[in-house]
Amino acid sequence: MNYFRKKPLETIEKPTNLKRELKTMDLILLGLGAIVGTGIFVITGTAAALTAGPALIISFIIAAFSCVLSALCYAEFASRIPVAGGAYSYGYTVFGEIIGWLVGWLMICEYLLANASVASGWSGYMNGFLDGIGLGLPIALRSSYNAETGSYIDVIAVLITFVVTYIVVQGAKKALRLNNIMVFIKFGLIALFIVVGVFYVKPENWTPFAPFGVKGIASGAAVVFFAFLGFDAVSTAAEETKNPRRDIPRGIIGSLGVATVLYIAVTLVLTGIVPYAQLDVKDPVAFAIRFIGQDFIAGIISVGAIVTLLTVLISMTYGLGRLIYAIGRDGLLPKKLSKVDTKTKGPKFATQIAGTVSAVLAGIVPLGKLAELTNIVTLMIFVILAIGIIKLRKDFGEPKDGEFKVPFVPIFPIVSIVVCIYLMIQLSLSVWISFVIWLILGVIFYLTYGYNHSELNK
Ligand code: ALA
Repeated sequence: MNYFRKKPLETIEKPTNLKRELKTMDLILLGLGAIVGTGIFVITGTAAALTAGPALIISFIIAAFSCVLSALCYAEFASRIPVAGGAYSYGYTVFGEIIGWLVGWLMICEYLLANASVASGWSGYMNGFLDGIGLGLPIALRSSYNAETGSYIDVIAVLITFVVTYIVVQGAKKALRLNNIMVFIKFGLIALFIVVGVFYVKPENWTPFAPFGVKGIASGAAVVFFAFLGFDAVSTAAEETKNPRRDIPRGIIGSLGVATVLYIAVTLVLTGIVPYAQLDVKDPVAFAIRFIGQDFIAGIISVGAIVTLLTVLISMTYGLGRLIYAIGRDGLLPKKLSKVDTKTKGPKFATQIAGTVSAVLAGIVPLGKLAELTNIVTLMIFVILAIGIIKLRKDFGEPKDGEFKVPFVPIFPIVSIVVCIYLMIQLSLSVWISFVIWLILGVIFYLTYGYNHSELNK
């Protein structure tokens, strides 16, 4: 029994069946499509009101700092091991099969949960919009099961997940073309918010600056960490990228940098216009604009958010389909999942399965803790990757010319590990328990299925 057997490095660059058609700009937009979403449009409000106050901008800076360190690790891996599957493939190559599988298993969890949360958040906006035009759905069909409110299933979240899956299955390029247009609209909305809002900022709203103290700032960071997730979706597109060694790192760091600047600006304006305690609403960005009496612009932002949150779903579904494809190709999940469709040249079956499971989660699972669970799972992946960079350097040496290099190894990876673990311990016990259960299920699946069906077994 060798649970730590490794994929030979020379197999990782063999020609792929996927079409290579993406460039740096496509990747930055893919990243931003995945990153800018529910986090900034929805979670910012509650996080400012209940967790951190105006000091939420510090939380964003801490979360961004953690993500940048992890992004550097992703970038080095992506440039040295440019294959589909992202962190999963890196873990497999560096640590061996069982760790690679567990990273893949955690990534599947991350993407499914994030996809479901965004679909559910989207449905919240959409239900509000339908109410506004007098076409509101009955309570039973509006959100996941809740005996108190009498709701059973979130029909809109289920439908939108299927629609997005259909779009993604039509092929990467088509889906991304739509994604790119949406990303530009999303930026237009955020720019509109900042440009209009900045004239109404009252600096006195920024005091008290940290009403919940250092603890609030730290917990805030662990929550808004969610807003940065998605940059790793870029690395899952390596096999469809023309020049992955150069373009993947640029795509990751570019999209993360742009998102950070944007979030800090939005949070400053948001907490500058509205006293933080009043921000506990589902649509804080539009709410703030209504707060200053600009109802028409608030309407534009609401409808725009409904349209553009779709980009997050598209990118997540895209990434999840590719991830399951890569794991299936290695035999750790059933082989059928790695079939490439002859017409669209994409992993059609894997994407459909991913979409269906996301739809079920989005429809029936209560989403209160899901963002937190997404965060803990992702932070764990980041910890493994940071250790992975140190091991990669030890086993495979320094990066070659033209490959991306994490500066100050091992200091940067160690700082990354400390920050990630610090954020993890801010999260609640129930989240930790679910996380450990998911990990145990992953180990059981590997021992009973993956180990025997792995390509490395042949
Ligand atoms: N970063 C993504 C969002 O904010 C997951 O929705």
